[in-house]
Amino acid sequence: MVREAEMRKTIIAGNWKMHKTVGEALELVNGLKRGLYSLENVELVVCPGFTLLDEVGDALSGSDISLGAQNVHWQEEGAFTGEVCARQLKDIGARYVIVGHSERRHIFGEDDTTVNNKLKAVLAAGMSPILCLGETLSQREADETFKVIEEQVTRGLAGVNKQGLANSVIAYEPVWAIGTGKTASPQQAQEVHSFIRGQICRLYDAEAAQGLRIQYGGSVKPDNIVALIREEDIDGALVGGASLDVDAFCAIARQAAGF
Ligand code: PGA
Repeated sequence: MVREAEMRKTIIAGNWKMHKTVGEALELVNGLKRGLYSLENVELVVCPGFTLLDEVGDALSGSDISLGAQNVHWQEEGAFTGEVCARQLKDIGARYVIVGHSERRHIFGEDDTTVNNKLKAVLAAGMSPILCLGETLSQREADETFKVIEEQVTRGLAGVNKQGLANSVIAYEPVWAIGTGKTASPQQAQEVHSFIRGQICRLYDAEAAQGLRIQYGGSVKPDNIVALIREEDIDGALVGGASLDVDAFCAIARQAAGF
């Protein structure tokens, strides 16, 4: 019998956050191209900062690594000083855009409505959103994890049809595990991933739920990826800190490709 997870191609994405100059980014990407050459069974994405997208995109052409952005404005265009729209990202070769990352939510005050608008703008421009969700430590301790996740899924995907969902990826990133070195245990992560899939089934249907890829994010490292990816509902990882290092990201991707 084919495991349902086998229908979902593993996706490993690197979120470079506000790191690297052009020269440093090219060094990283050239190392990744060498280290991950013709790696099968896994989809690879890197999400550099805005000023790096053009040159990293050029460096990636002809490779199997896709380009993603970390943020977007929801309007098509207009007088929004300092913002970047989906059409501009698409034009530069981005295929993915992270929306709703916890740093956007908590440092920059983005709420679910903003995240939903961004997600729809990404889909409308023909790219794939990576919708990030996750509870804070105090929400987990107050037993609010499932409530928070349910709200973030429902509001984040409001007005998105089944086709839009099929073009989307969800990343479960418990806020307490991001950049802290504290990973959720595979069981803790699996519990929430399975809950998210259940919510997708409720909002759409079983087929949509089975097809959706759900990444885990939060202190993913070469030494914990295998245990995470083994879980039935974990379909990849969104990697922050370890994606800035050629050897660490290649080791994560190679191990994930083995499953
Ligand atoms: P981290 O970041 O891997 O450094 O914890 C993950 C993320 O923020 O996407």
